[in-house]
Amino acid sequence: MHPLLNVAVMAARHAGSMLIKKMVNLKKLKVEQKGHNDFVSDADRAAEKAIIDCIHKHYPDHAILAEESGASGDSDTVWIIDPLDGTTNYLHGFPVFAVSIGVQINGRMEHAVVYDPLRQEIFTASRGTGAEVDGHKLRVSGQMEMPRALLGTGFPFRDAGLDITPYMAMLSKAIIHASGVRRVGSAALDLCYVAAGRLDAYFETGLAPWDLAAGSLIVREAGGIVSGLDGSENFLHSGHVLCGTPRIYREFAKLCAPEIKALLK
Ligand code: IPD
Ligand code: CA
Ligand code: CA
Repeated sequence: MHPLLNVAVMAARHAGSMLIKKMVNLKKLKVEQKGHNDFVSDADRAAEKAIIDCIHKHYPDHAILAEESGASGDSDTVWIIDPLDGTTNYLHGFPVFAVSIGVQINGRMEHAVVYDPLRQEIFTASRGTGAEVDGHKLRVSGQMEMPRALLGTGFPFRDAGLDITPYMAMLSKAIIHASGVRRVGSAALDLCYVAAGRLDAYFETGLAPWDLAAGSLIVREAGGIVSGLDGSENFLHSGHVLCGTPRIYREFAKLCAPEIKALLK
């Protein structure tokens, strides 16, 4: 394992066990509202601090882009961190959330870890060497037929004034044409589930770089396609994403072309 990935895995495992410990007494957590339907707790903050401390212990000069504390440092190597992806699930005791850490070097994702501490599943990837879950190679599904495909999505929920009509039109198509649609509640796990062949495609809008950084590399290294909804490469910054097996990705993009056009207008 590459030394950078090794440190990422150590940090993710440590943060994951902190989250599990704090979950035992959810009522004791201090929760603040950052925006509409957007919450942060002291569990998110403590996990993020633990991750950054671990990184800086090994690589004091590396830069950080973390959800709760923002950007710091100036380096070609940037650690992109979501200490708790799925905060809403976590705060409700709904057992689906993850720690996500990606390492970007000169603007390119090189290493990734997504850790699901409840299932103790650790998804990892390094560019060019494939993706793994708990040491087993990951491969996207071989699904060739949309009517049999299982799709993942995330609902737009943060912008109270947003017109959700174009998203709903896309969701309707997914419901009608695929065999099912799941709203997992953790973008990082949605991506890993595509990589693991548990979902055949996933789409969402309104995301941040830390939701997508690690998971996108894991999907690509498992043989999947990841892009913005319009096929663009800058999804980390646009925040809209479509990923899937090559076949289902292409079919879904074609099927929803008018809805995607309306959504991105
Ligand atoms: C959220 C989760 C969720 C997605 C949201 C994300 P957070 O991350 O990934 O599935 O729908 O858009 O912001 O806020 O729990 O870290
Ligand atoms: Ca997130
Ligand atoms: Ca988060």
